[in-house]
Formats: sequence, C-alpha cells, structure tokens
Amino acid sequence: MITIKKADEEGTRILSKKLLSLLEDKSSKLYQDNITKFGIPDEYVKRAFSENTLLKATETGKSTFYLALEDKEIVGFAQIIQQDAKTIELDRIIVFFPRKGIGTQLLKEIIQDQKQNGVKNIIVATGKEEDHARQFYEKNGSKQVDEKIIDTPWGNKLTIIIYNLNLEN
Ligand SMILES: CC(C)(COP(=O)(O)OP(=O)(O)OC[C@H]1O[C@@H](n2cnc3c(N)ncnc32)[C@H](O)[C@@H]1OP(=O)(O)O)[C@@H](O)C(=O)NCCC(=O)NCCS
Repeated sequence: MITIKKADEEGTRILSKKLLSLLEDKSSKLYQDNITKFGIPDEYVKRAFSENTLLKATETGKSTFYLALEDKEIVGFAQIIQQDAKTIELDRIIVFFPRKGIGTQLLKEIIQDQKQNGVKNIIVATGKEEDHARQFYEKNGSKQVDEKIIDTPWGNKLTIIIYNLNLEN
C-alpha cells in the first residue's frame, strides 16, 4: 500500500540520500529520462539533490516535499513551492515505478492538503516534448495556459508548457 506524507527534516535527508544513490546509475531509466535527455551536467544534478539544497529549500518555508512510501521505502516524491497565498508551483514530481497510480496519489494528496491552506491554483511547467508528463497533468485536470522558450540553468534552451490546475472547479 502506498501512503503519502509530508517530509520532515529526517525525511528530507533520506530523500536526498535515496535520489543521489539512484542517480549513481547513469544507465537507469530514471537518469536517462530525467537527466540525460535534458543534457543536465552531473555536477548540477548532485547539487540540485544534495541534502544541503533540499534542506535549504524547506528552511525558507516556501518548499514542501511530499513522499510516496511503500513499506517505509520512498517510491516517489513531489516538491512544491509556495508562490503566493493562493498559488503553489509543482516544481517536481517523480515516481520510481511509473504508471501504477503513485503520481496521481501524490497529486491528490497535495491538492487536498493545499486546499486546506487556501491554495486555489497549482501551476506546473513541463517540457513540450514530455508526452507522458503532459498526459499525466492533462488527465488530472490541468489546463495549458502558456508556452515559452526558457534558458535552463545549465545553459540550454527548452520549450516548456505551463499548466494551471484550478482547485476551485
Ligand atoms: C509523470 C509521472 C510523475 C506520472 O506518475 P505515474 O505514477 O507514472 O502516473 P499515474 O500512474 O498516476 O498515471 C496517471 C495518468 O497519467 C498518464 N500517464 C502517466 N504515465 C504515462 C506514460 N508512461 N505514458 C502515457 N501516459 C502516462 C496517463 O494518462 C495515466 O492514466 P492511465 O494510466 O489511466 O492511462 C511519472 O511518470 C514520472 O515520474 N515521470 C518521470 C518524471 C517526470 O516526467 N515528471 C514530471 C515533470 S517534473
């Protein structure tokens, strides 16, 4: 059974360890789909998922990590960033066992939790070519609101689609 919970400090440390260890295997689907495909340098990945980076993100009070757990093992996670009182950005959602409903369960929990905080909109950006992610967001009710080309922090250009999930509907 999958349960979703908000990560406390210890959970955030465990998440960082898990991600860094999973990402050691550069031939894994996880690495190929999320890192290689976007040409993200290894150093950037290590820094992005380091304990320090994840803890700093939560310390500001703006980021929250939600963990999907199966028998205490992390099988997926999502990071949200508070943008203003009524809007959060879903910054990342990654599951380690795709297409088993874990992503949907994570998103539903985020929606339920954030509605209680008065949040009305969840925005999320994804690569234009990310068919699976786009199908996932669309199936969950998100509507495309913008498309733009961005400069990634690692120096590439990327066309992204911005979705909005309205929680008042
Ligand atoms: C996108 C992601 C989070 C979805 O989570 P998931 O647990 O695999 O999704 P679910 O099983 O809840 O699927 C819900 C719906 O999303 C769509 N979907 C999800 N994965 C899909 C895939 N591989 N191919 C086609 N549709 C897919 C389908 O519409 C699916 O409904 P269905 O199975 O009834 O057809 C997950 O696939 C993932 O981690 N992908 C890699 C990372 C990523 O792209 N994250 C998003 C950008 S940060």
